[in-house]
Amino acid sequence: MKTKIGVFFGGRSTEHEISVISANQAMAAINADKYDVVPVYIAKDGHWYTGDALRDVSNYKKGIQTLLKDCTEVYMRPVYGDYNLYPAQRRGFFDKGKPVATLDVAIPVLHGSNVEDGIFEGVLETIGIPYAGCNTLSSANGMDKITMKMILAADGIPVVDYVWFTDKQWGRKKEALTDEIENKLGYPVIVKPANLGSSIGIGSAHNREELETRIDDAARYSARIIVEHMIKNLQEINCSVLGDQDDYETSVLEEPIKSGDFLDYNMKYMGGGKNDRGMQASKKRIPAELPESETKRIQYLAGETFRVLGCHGVSRVDVMVDGDTREIYVNEINTIPGSLSFYLWEAAGVKFDELMDRLVRLALKRKRNQETKTTSFDSNIFAMGGGVKGVKGCKGAK
Ligand SMILES: Nc1ncnc2c1ncn2[C@@H]1O[C@H](COP(=O)(O)OP(=O)(O)O)[C@@H](O)[C@H]1O
Ligand SMILES: [Mg+2]
Repeated sequence: MKTKIGVFFGGRSTEHEISVISANQAMAAINADKYDVVPVYIAKDGHWYTGDALRDVSNYKKGIQTLLKDCTEVYMRPVYGDYNLYPAQRRGFFDKGKPVATLDVAIPVLHGSNVEDGIFEGVLETIGIPYAGCNTLSSANGMDKITMKMILAADGIPVVDYVWFTDKQWGRKKEALTDEIENKLGYPVIVKPANLGSSIGIGSAHNREELETRIDDAARYSARIIVEHMIKNLQEINCSVLGDQDDYETSVLEEPIKSGDFLDYNMKYMGGGKNDRGMQASKKRIPAELPESETKRIQYLAGETFRVLGCHGVSRVDVMVDGDTREIYVNEINTIPGSLSFYLWEAAGVKFDELMDRLVRLALKRKRNQETKTTSFDSNIFAMGGGVKGVKGCKGAK
């Protein structure tokens, strides 16, 4: 019997459509001699569907409702060890809802908030199914730009200077925060909502007035806001990392080619561009043309970012090079990168089917390792007379 891979995509995310494209690329690349692919599409309303029609991107052009007529709505139970996909609609009273499929491994190809940030990964953890990619902790830490930068900085990984606060704090002490930003960072700065996976809500500010407008704008998207020193002469370089925190390798580097300076680029982002994953279709230089020492340093920092955050599977680390000083800073990690960064691995000699194979093997390896850990601690606390008192004691102790 072939191993059944459930590829999960879509999701309640602003990057829903990009995920459909990434997942279809991944499903087409999976070696059919070795694996059966089961697409699991998470619609924008959160319902799950499966069906072969989901494996042809051209079907999505007909409109989702038309496409879903050819699909079966399914769900999984949050029960440890139950890897079945059940039909959501039973056909009659005697229909027990026979599973549509029993999965062996899950590969989330989901981008953005609600799905790439540990929320969906938590569902898979609860079910206990082996799955590819970051766990809840590393996904969540990787998604939040504030938490991520705190962790990286604490480990000596260079990140740009920043100030962060919540929307409520901004409302209460605008003056003090503006002073802090001006004193610590000066202008220009970049303002970002902390936890969006696309460039929505991101903008630059060159003075107090712009700063206020940008922060008010970012606050519409997220309760957590980060203001960063802006690198004026910016060169962006991306590097993919594959493996787990104990054993990983880095890819060749890519340099996304942008027309015009950063502002144009940013305005394009803000205006019509969907997000950075759209860049997979745009021009890029692979490998990036950099001195050997800078290439090595960026690969090292990408690997360290992956390791320090405890990542797994395939990620993409985006770094920023200051064109004036040649200082290198880690900007962000994408724990489920657009197109799974397959083009960077192909350039490094790893074919897309081999990449998918590696993800499956990493998922199974993690599961095997988890099974060696103790998850319960036998004690006869209930048999002991003081059980109830003990519970109260625990409550008090918290
Ligand atoms: N500190 C910075 N200085 C200059 N440009 C920046 C800075 N931070 C982000 N940018 C620009 O904004 C883009 C989007 O920011 P990023 O942090 O990557 O957010 P997202 O998660 O939306 O991709 C980057 O690709 C880069 O072009
Ligand atoms: Mg980015």
